[in-house]
Amino acid sequence: MSDTPSLRTEFCGLELGSPILNGSGTFDAIAARRVFGDEAVRVGSFPFGGYVSKTITEEARVGNPPFRTWETPAGMINSIGLPNLGLEGFLEAQLPELRELPVPLIVSVMASDRDGFARIIGRLSAAGGIDAFELNVSCPNVHSGLIVGERPEETAGLLDRLRPLTERPLIVKLTPNVASPELIASAAEAGGADAVSLVNTLKATAIDPDSDRPWLGAGSGGLSGPAIRPIALQQVRAVAAEVSIPVVGMGGVTDGQSAYDFIRAGATVVAVGTENFRDPLAGLGVMRGLEEVLREKGVEDLGAIRGNTLS
Ligand code: FUM
Repeated sequence: MSDTPSLRTEFCGLELGSPILNGSGTFDAIAARRVFGDEAVRVGSFPFGGYVSKTITEEARVGNPPFRTWETPAGMINSIGLPNLGLEGFLEAQLPELRELPVPLIVSVMASDRDGFARIIGRLSAAGGIDAFELNVSCPNVHSGLIVGERPEETAGLLDRLRPLTERPLIVKLTPNVASPELIASAAEAGGADAVSLVNTLKATAIDPDSDRPWLGAGSGGLSGPAIRPIALQQVRAVAAEVSIPVVGMGGVTDGQSAYDFIRAGATVVAVGTENFRDPLAGLGVMRGLEEVLREKGVEDLGAIRGNTLS
């Protein structure tokens, strides 16, 4: 066997140089280029095999009132509230630069109803240069963020509406805030989704010790990071056992071993989220760490280890 196991991964018809993505909203590629220069977004130094944008909504949003984050012993709570430039602002100010990234571009979108999602997907599809869409039906930080993602019939209805609008892969981002995420995943698959990604954050709060009031401006937020990894692993395992479409696994991925664990649980692709805030190069570390774990275990083919003895 060669010294370096191949990380090349086929995902929804996209060829990824590695199975490591960023979690939406956890790595700003445009800011990284501004701060670290063009080198940061070149083949070989860009930390991910595919790039997922911050979630775009139809209208611009300023996000939630401060404070928006709280550090926990093994993670963080965020209550960011989807600040973004809105659809037209994204098309004008961000998409041209994101199209220059050396990896496939996945744009995350969110709306409060099916028609809103349809308008965004229609407009972005027409703009071109986008390889796939992630449908964020799992944000705990905005009004109506979870309605579609908590009910199988709503998820299926959304896919029915969107599927005819684009030939690009549709990835449904699932919430962990339900008893059986596999039911939502199955509904997404039945509606024509190409993949599911999970988990988004777990609903959480923190109390300010000085005021005895909730610390976060919005009162609550979503917990992410290593604290939620065992929950995420189990949900990925349950979903992967239920659906035939690929699964993007995330929730506390910090190193090669945790990425490997998600692949063993059934994920085709793994996303790094909270760790990017601590280390913007975390994606590269996870990728090299995964190579190392595969080398130690004598694994040449990622497909051969995916969820194969876990049921
Ligand atoms: O609040 C936020 O911007 C995060 C969104 C999400 O968890 O989907």
